[in-house]
Amino acid sequence: MKRQVDEYLYEKIVPYREERREKDMDDRKAYGGVFDKRTLLAFYKLLKKGVIDIVEFPISTGKEGDVFRAVGKEGFLAVKVYRMTTINYKGLSRFIDGDDRFAHIHKTKDTVILIWARKEFRNLSDYYKKGVNVPKPMAVWKNILVMDYIGDEVMPAPLLKDVIQDTPREFAFLLIEEMRKMLKAKLIHGDLSEYNILVWDEKPYIIDVAQAVPLDHPLADDLLLRDVRNMVRVLNKLGLGIREKELMKEIEVI
Ligand SMILES: Nc1ncnc2c1ncn2[C@@H]1O[C@H](COP(=O)(O)OP(=O)(O)OP(=O)(O)O)[C@@H](O)[C@H]1O
Ligand SMILES: [Mg+2]
Repeated sequence: MKRQVDEYLYEKIVPYREERREKDMDDRKAYGGVFDKRTLLAFYKLLKKGVIDIVEFPISTGKEGDVFRAVGKEGFLAVKVYRMTTINYKGLSRFIDGDDRFAHIHKTKDTVILIWARKEFRNLSDYYKKGVNVPKPMAVWKNILVMDYIGDEVMPAPLLKDVIQDTPREFAFLLIEEMRKMLKAKLIHGDLSEYNILVWDEKPYIIDVAQAVPLDHPLADDLLLRDVRNMVRVLNKLGLGIREKELMKEIEVI
């Protein structure tokens, strides 16, 4: 069984195939350095279920996890893999405790990252249902989140911070519209900035929503204020000339 699983994964996970080809199939180090065993088993499940056909290459590597481009039945996918090892238990718990949607789930040091992945999936789903421009959520299993890939064959969508807009003011209004929809969905993003907004086809896509909390969460007010402050900076960079209070009004907070 183990060998079968290994061979199967070997075929399906492309990024490190070249490097592994030279080595013995049983050499765990060959891809153990990339994905730990639990993550590999989680991949196995998603591959077997047909959610993912092939994992291509990393789009981004961060401290909490990596995002890969993958191929599914209907085209490209973005696969966010949360790292199981470098978890800040307290840091994450602050955003989980007090969220009624996760009140019934028992949380331990070992499971907090799994809950975190599910929280991002749930937040994406709640936003998506309310028409917020987010990547469509596809699946979550263990520490792996699968969503729509924003971009094309050649490149993933760039971050807002790296894009020079043709019509910056129009784009600023699109951003305000997304903020309005996010509030209508009753979830405060909590880490909104030009680092967590992708631009594709002249439209903004909001990403990185794991930390988003419901309006009645103890952190909600502080996070909203932070998001508004960040976005005032972004909007003004786009030439809008807007103040915090005005933006609050625009998105119907006050
Ligand atoms: N659906 C997607 N389609 C295309 N690219 C994506 C998608 N989701 C994420 N990315 C890319 O992966 C990067 C990291 O994703 P995300 O912001 O969700 O994770 P993160 O935990 O903040 O990682 P980091 O610490 O690197 O910021 C993004 O900046 C973006 O470039
Ligand atoms: Mg991010």
